[in-house]
Amino acid sequence: MSEFTARYLADYQPSPYSINTIDLTIELDEHATKVRSILSITKKEESDEPLVLDGEHLILVSVSLGQQSLSPDAYQLTEQSLTIFNLPSEFTLTVETEVDPANNTALEGLYKSGDAFCTQCEAEGFRRITYYLDRPDVMAIFTTKVIADRAKFPQLLANGNPVERGELNNNKHFVTWHDPHPKPCYLFALVAGDFDLLSDQYKTASGREVLLEIFVDKGNKAKAEHAMASLKHSMKWDEDVFGLEYDLDIYMIVAVDFFNMGAMENKGLNVFNSKYVLADRESATDTDFFNIEAVIAHEYFHNWTGNRVTCRDWFQLSLKEGLTVFRDQQFSADMHSADVTRIQNVKLLRAQQFAEDAGPMSHPIRPEKVMEMNNFYTLTVYEKGAEVIRMLHTLLGQNGFRKGMDLYFDRFDGMAVTCDDFVTAMADANNRDLTLFKRWYSQSGTPELTVTQHFESASQQFTLNIEQMTPATGNQLEKLALHIPIKLELIVGEEVQTQLVELTNQSQQFQFACEQEPTVAFLCDFSAPVKVNYEQSTAALLTIIESSQNNFCVWDAGQKIMAKEIEQLVLLAGSQPSRDIERMFNAVITADYDAAFKALMLTLPSFDEMTAHISKVDPQKLISAIEKLSTFISSTFSAEFLSLYKQHSEVEHLSSSQQVGSRALANTCLRYLVKLTEHHSLVAQRYLQATDMTTKLGALQCSIKQVNDETLSLLNDFEQQWHADTLVMDKWFSLNANLNDELIFERLEQLMARDDFALTNPNRARSLIGAFAMQNNKYFHESSGKGYQFLAQQIIEMDRINPQVASRLITPLIQFEAFNEVHQSLMISQLQFIASQDNLSRDLVEKLEAALKE
Ligand code: TRP
Ligand code: ZN
Repeated sequence: MSEFTARYLADYQPSPYSINTIDLTIELDEHATKVRSILSITKKEESDEPLVLDGEHLILVSVSLGQQSLSPDAYQLTEQSLTIFNLPSEFTLTVETEVDPANNTALEGLYKSGDAFCTQCEAEGFRRITYYLDRPDVMAIFTTKVIADRAKFPQLLANGNPVERGELNNNKHFVTWHDPHPKPCYLFALVAGDFDLLSDQYKTASGREVLLEIFVDKGNKAKAEHAMASLKHSMKWDEDVFGLEYDLDIYMIVAVDFFNMGAMENKGLNVFNSKYVLADRESATDTDFFNIEAVIAHEYFHNWTGNRVTCRDWFQLSLKEGLTVFRDQQFSADMHSADVTRIQNVKLLRAQQFAEDAGPMSHPIRPEKVMEMNNFYTLTVYEKGAEVIRMLHTLLGQNGFRKGMDLYFDRFDGMAVTCDDFVTAMADANNRDLTLFKRWYSQSGTPELTVTQHFESASQQFTLNIEQMTPATGNQLEKLALHIPIKLELIVGEEVQTQLVELTNQSQQFQFACEQEPTVAFLCDFSAPVKVNYEQSTAALLTIIESSQNNFCVWDAGQKIMAKEIEQLVLLAGSQPSRDIERMFNAVITADYDAAFKALMLTLPSFDEMTAHISKVDPQKLISAIEKLSTFISSTFSAEFLSLYKQHSEVEHLSSSQQVGSRALANTCLRYLVKLTEHHSLVAQRYLQATDMTTKLGALQCSIKQVNDETLSLLNDFEQQWHADTLVMDKWFSLNANLNDELIFERLEQLMARDDFALTNPNRARSLIGAFAMQNNKYFHESSGKGYQFLAQQIIEMDRINPQVASRLITPLIQFEAFNEVHQSLMISQLQFIASQDNLSRDLVEKLEAALKE
């Protein structure tokens, strides 16, 4: 397999050349787009090092130095590069290439999404458009002339401001764009198409008018309103909270259906997966609305954290991604319930990032070794990266953090820098030594804290002993102590004392003066991305639920009670749920929480959260245990669920944020009620009465988990109604992928044979194959291995079409170590089968090598 080589952070060298300006002329054509690039280049110092330009999947048409066309013996061409020798200290290089967008199914570089042309250059896609120094520390001023058929592509877009437009022969026209801000080529973008346009304006704090434009497929304009409102909220928030204004006269967003990821922050011209732009009440869920707002904010915030200050090299990806995720999380928390938002962040981290950090692709938030960069757009770099920024925020406080950000921009605006530069700015602005803290950037794995307590009644001294240990991961066997901020509460009766302690050693004792032995609410707000082993009695956990002022801890205490219960049911065959669960649910159901929080309190830890908790678990036993517990809860509290359900089904009189909470709570109650035959009829009733997608989908999700005669007819009805709406049909495919019934394998085959299914469309492929492998745990982990086999086959096919998507789909298979022997060996044999195929992508090879080594 090892035909590909890895790159190392330790080998970083700046380029001996800088590119000052690039003038692009791109004449669009389905199969033969012509790209002319004129580069003005300077040698940084006298040296004879040749210029090695990156380029892949390109047809080279010509190269000229100044006016002189170069003959093929003046340069060297390989599959990945164009090398030019004997260059003067300053020169102009003109390179002409040709590319084939219509056959570009990898969706990297220039490709077609439906009828439109668009680009995706991060991380290393620009080299599929022209030969270039495709690295983020090479920053140039871009001018882009886009030429295309006038009738088919009335809108021609690129970064910056439009400076010229005109008509050409053969029914073509052109627009020239100029971006005054020097940028790395990964932020380059071009779009050509025939879109509906939603326009608006934003006046910045300093009084400049910015034109806001969102381009969507014809007919979808009304569905862009929420994205537009979100953009304006983001712009305002960044001014208010960080003092950051937008810096161009125009900000454009284009929504496309074919996209590998969520969205891309190209300077002045964001390209979005349409899933993160389009929404209206009938077709989108409350979660969709929330996510759209968060992704719009994320890409907007990148303008400062990513674009104005960018990464020196790709190992530093978390410099922009961890920081920008932290910023979008804070924004969402300010726009909605801060507690609910925080809990959702933590659920994602525990369910997915912990698994990644314990699996074969475990890496520090700043990786040291990369084979395929696209494999490192991970939960670790993004979500754990955001947790690391949040810890700085906790250690320095809101004001200290802001001072650090201000210094960071003062020092580095317009530059390409490192994670180390960021932390140093935080340290300098606050006069703090963060040397030890920097280990978070180089150490992988989830740290585990072991906490014990001791109370000395004579001296009224309470002692917490905290030890940290990070288990060995992949190629990192030795782990060092980290600097861990721990927020906690000491609860004695009505009195709650809040503390922030800093763990900096392997083991440390913290002493507090207390009149009585307190109950400790540990790790408030989840102040560090760690696992905690702290033996607390159910009585103590119930005290936290009742008395803690930190809603994260309240929620987490409930989760601990439920997790303990599930663990017992897994480990002790034939055991029954205990009284603890009844006590907890009694307390929670009657508590005076808002509806959204109550819904979270009533939700059991998921399969994924539990696999991070119980080592080498038998997935089928885990599923049965969760099922047994939720059935027990359903029957014990059916009357309470029914009354809550009814109470929260009427939402018209509520504010829109209360409606969101009520819908979540009603859906949660329905999931319990549907386990009891006498309440089955509620599902169809709710489905038929629903006027919004959250409620409709909530009902269908109950139906597919409790499959009966009605299920397929409800799915058919939904399909009838929505067959013309691509994003809603993605939801329909996901519902099918989650069917809790043996017919699932047959069903998957039927669905893949449909005209509206295609592996070339990532959203559609993910909504069926991804949803099956990542959500339908019972059948994916079927003991015959059928589920694993299905996924392996799809990955092999997908890899020939779109390696990035294939490489994401393999995640559940490589994380086999979480499961018992039987399942591990079934998973490994499918990985070996994939590895035995010819011509696998670099993306898959990197993951297979990591998973199958030894
Ligand atoms: N920088 C993008 C973000 O906001 C990530 C991204 C979008 C991406 N498309 C991509 C990364 C394609 C790799 C490949 O997070
Ligand atoms: Zn990002």
